[in-house]
Amino acid sequence: MYKRVKGTDDIYGEDMKYWYFVEDVARETARLYGYSEIRTPIFERTELFVRGVGEDTDIVQKEMYTFEDKGNRSITLRPEGTAPTIRAFVENSMLATGLPKRLFYIGPMFRYERPQSGRQRQFHQFGVELIGSPSSLADAEAIVLADRFLKNLGLVDYTIKINSIGCEKCRGEYKKALKKYYENKLDKVCDDCKRRYETNVLRLLDCKVDVEYVKGAPKITDYLCDDCKSHYLETKEILDDLEIKYEEDPLLVRGLDYYNRVVFEIHHGKLGAQSAVGGGGRYDNLIKELGGPKTPSLGFAMGIERLIIAIKEENIPVDDVKNNEVYVAHLGERARVEAIKISEELRDSDISVVFNTMERGLSAQLKHAARLKCKLCIIVGENELERNIVILRNMETGEQIEIERDYIVGTTKEWIEK
Ligand code: HAM
Repeated sequence: MYKRVKGTDDIYGEDMKYWYFVEDVARETARLYGYSEIRTPIFERTELFVRGVGEDTDIVQKEMYTFEDKGNRSITLRPEGTAPTIRAFVENSMLATGLPKRLFYIGPMFRYERPQSGRQRQFHQFGVELIGSPSSLADAEAIVLADRFLKNLGLVDYTIKINSIGCEKCRGEYKKALKKYYENKLDKVCDDCKRRYETNVLRLLDCKVDVEYVKGAPKITDYLCDDCKSHYLETKEILDDLEIKYEEDPLLVRGLDYYNRVVFEIHHGKLGAQSAVGGGGRYDNLIKELGGPKTPSLGFAMGIERLIIAIKEENIPVDDVKNNEVYVAHLGERARVEAIKISEELRDSDISVVFNTMERGLSAQLKHAARLKCKLCIIVGENELERNIVILRNMETGEQIEIERDYIVGTTKEWIEK
């Protein structure tokens, strides 16, 4: 027997309703804020992520699914959606259609991480990118969108954490302070931290091992330049005016290199170790880095698997998918053709029908209908057809009536609704 690859999931059956629910709410919320959908390829040239996400990040160092294709190109399964979206924005000259541009995406991402609850190697994100606005209004709007999305899902047990990680200018001073702080701890920190100290000192704050040192590290917010300070302040003021609850976290730096200024993460109270349901922030230099003109932008992404765990943990009721409303059973040669005709008539009226395609007796067909949780069953029999009628049965109560051939659709609809 073949088994699925570790860290991947088969998504089907009862669980599907949660996926439809989250995806529908995501599309609807994105629509409310003027976003249009973009679908980029699942794989890209490796270089895009090395340049975009950053050479010294965990994603690029340890987590990418990278392979050579038959043309000796280095290809990577996308670990995230921002770099591909920006690649597409630049490549397709979307700048020409005016700024800001609002794009959203829903789809699978791939990271070679140690699988555990809420952490897979193939997972799915809903992400939005607001391209072309330097204003704190844009930062605030993205956070408001994220908040509305979570509220629309019915979630309450979450916390929005925000921080500003400044710009190149103020980060220079901060990096110096960080280096100084770690200078006399280098023999005590992990190998990754030793490397980060040399290559990208800000990444020291991502360390999951030397957390105690991270806690005591200097805070970036004490080093912000005046422009970054006021941008951060304005963003917070707008959130306050809109009564969006958030917490400031001066140690929040995010694990991807493209960010500057405002960054944020959303954590859910019942998710355990992998508590981040979403994260994002501003990335004013990424578009230039990827070959376009300097275009201030920002965005965020949410992990759909984690959102679904949160929805289940909060016992949020989610409607069943409206399929298998009616089962059409039949008995006898002539009845089978009439039954398929009746099924099509019901489908013409938007009723979901399971038609019996097996050579089975009536009791087996009724059992099948019950197993599929069909609400109603229409039984088409030879004798009944002689009398120009069929039987309509309520599978939950057992109540059944005879209906004339011409009234099947109308009466079935009434029974579905009652
Ligand atoms: P990220 O924080 O790496 O950001 O991922 C966003 C969310 O994806 C996480 O908060 C988490 O819910 C989910 N996620 C990440 N890795 C996994 C995993 N292995 N298994 C399950 N869920 C996972 C980004 O990806 C940025 N591109 C977000 C962004 C968009 N920033 C600006 N625009």
